[in-house]
Amino acid sequence: MNQKLKDQIALVTGADSGIGKGVALELAKEGARVVVNYHHNKVAADEVVTEIKALGGEAIAFQADVSKEPEVLAMFTETIKQYGTIDILINNSGLQKDSKFVDMSLADWQMVIDINLTGQFLCSREAAKEFIRRGVVDTKSRAAGKIICMSSVHEVIPWGGHVNYATSKGGVMMLMKSMAQELAPHKIRVMGIGPGAIQTPINKAAWETPEALQKLLKLVPYNRIGLPEDIGKLATWLVSDEADYITGTTTFIDGGMTLYPGFADNG
Ligand code: BGC
Repeated sequence: MNQKLKDQIALVTGADSGIGKGVALELAKEGARVVVNYHHNKVAADEVVTEIKALGGEAIAFQADVSKEPEVLAMFTETIKQYGTIDILINNSGLQKDSKFVDMSLADWQMVIDINLTGQFLCSREAAKEFIRRGVVDTKSRAAGKIICMSSVHEVIPWGGHVNYATSKGGVMMLMKSMAQELAPHKIRVMGIGPGAIQTPINKAAWETPEALQKLLKLVPYNRIGLPEDIGKLATWLVSDEADYITGTTTFIDGGMTLYPGFADNG
């Protein structure tokens, strides 16, 4: 089979669960060697590595907090030491610390901005340096490097009760677009993915009971919850040469959540 990402090196942050895991597995199926970054769950990260190897792929796990500069630098040094370079960065690590706006602590605001936004800045900066240093290797890809910024429908849908999270994702959009503009002459593509409701641990409360799921699906015209592999397949295509003319834009993958479903029979 002709693999789309043969011999490319991909680093996926937060790849031990949820969307990150789904993306890591799909990239590996297309021939990428994957660095499975995790924050604290080594057992889960090692399982992802084992699953990738069972598919005939190659992967290592690496612990780092993406919001801590020395840890990010160490992760890129190790990636380049292990695999020689890096071709693909998937900025995926993210979390929610939800509360009413008036009750939101500075610590919960800061943590969400640090992980969801500053983490993407730090990892992207290190990846871009290596892409520029190495340049295009045309046996591997038409681009010198590809960066995916995992965003959310909440880069455009305001989200009360989750103001820190929605703000971080609005920031991710502008980070992605501004990097894309600046880095395009270096043949680096930077793209956003805006998932809607995907069945992962981050939103378990929204799908774990039939009642919760029914309520959630009122927001999804296509009437099903998304799966990590839906996102994995999109990410894999976006970083492949089939998408070589795409940069600086977010692809929403949300079963229609951004279509203002409340207006379908109202307004
Ligand atoms: C959030 C989920 C939520 C989804 C749709 C995602 O970015 O992390 O908790 O279910 O957006 O609202």
